[in-house]
Amino acid sequence: MNIDIQAVPPAQRGHCPKELGFGGIFSDHMFSQSYDDGQWHSATIKAFHHLSLHPAAAVLHYSQEIFEGLKAYRRPDGGINLFRPRQNIQRFNRSATRMVMPPVDEQLHLEAIKELVKLDQQWVPKEPGASYYLRPAMIATTPKLGLGAASSYLHFIIGGPVGPYFTTGFDPVSVYVSDQNRRAVKGGVGEAKTGGNYAASLLVGEAVAAKGYNQVLWLDAIEGRYIEEVGAMNICFAFKDGRIKTPALSGSILAGVTRDSILQLAPTLGYEVEEAKLDIDEVLGQIASGEITEVFGCGTAAVISPVGKLCYKEREYVVNNNTAGPVAKQLYDTLTAIQYGRSEDPFGWIE
Ligand code: COI
Repeated sequence: MNIDIQAVPPAQRGHCPKELGFGGIFSDHMFSQSYDDGQWHSATIKAFHHLSLHPAAAVLHYSQEIFEGLKAYRRPDGGINLFRPRQNIQRFNRSATRMVMPPVDEQLHLEAIKELVKLDQQWVPKEPGASYYLRPAMIATTPKLGLGAASSYLHFIIGGPVGPYFTTGFDPVSVYVSDQNRRAVKGGVGEAKTGGNYAASLLVGEAVAAKGYNQVLWLDAIEGRYIEEVGAMNICFAFKDGRIKTPALSGSILAGVTRDSILQLAPTLGYEVEEAKLDIDEVLGQIASGEITEVFGCGTAAVISPVGKLCYKEREYVVNNNTAGPVAKQLYDTLTAIQYGRSEDPFGWIE
């Protein structure tokens, strides 16, 4: 399938501002294609535009939607790197299957990303730590209020320049362990990247923000004791003996691309990685005893983000004196050097 490219005339294109923030600035073009009568059609890249939806569109009422996040990075030679777009597309299609939505053609999706980045290359920032964030999404557009999978869908990809996800940059964030509310349950949609998971987290997110914490650490919904994810990220624990542990994928945890990259990268730097069931009481005990020396979140938007404080049942646990530790720093530096093309990519992650 070909993509019809209708480029915005250069004179009408915007420019990449200096102050970026995260997720509020969009580039000149967007990709979209529609699904009706059992097939995708009308693949187009054209000027960034608002969508027009029927007020009864299924996405607006029953949240049949999925999304993704991936980044393009400016290399020192001026070229642009895409980081693991194929893993991202595969996860998009896994989410589609879970949400009873039609899969997209992986090759077309990849081509759309590449064409979009090529057309909007002046929006890929040059500043250190900044990148171009792509947001593929699919929404159910069928106007119907009867509950059931839609028959028409819109698949689109937008993007824009972003700075660090947290305003604190690489300074540690604080997390509050939710002992009352749960994000997702095994058998539910926790491992799908669907908006409802994020909407469901907002109430607790607001409550912990009011207590002065940046993110919520979620526990499993069945026993309420195993660590799952932290806010918009997966989570890792570094031990003083060189091990790095992250919760094993349980069916309710998002299979993060950055998480997977750390699992591959860390052993090459001498760490032993382990995916395990991590009991919150045990982990907090290991933080208190100094066996765990660092805690950090990881995700496409947040990259690697040190955690300096955790609060559980009104008791606070401070990690590494509330400063960014050497393990998180080394992983961040090594990963971002590959992403930005400052070092070789021995994993075949860059396109
Ligand atoms: C990402 O890390 O790309 C995400 O989709 C998380 C989102 C909450 C910004």
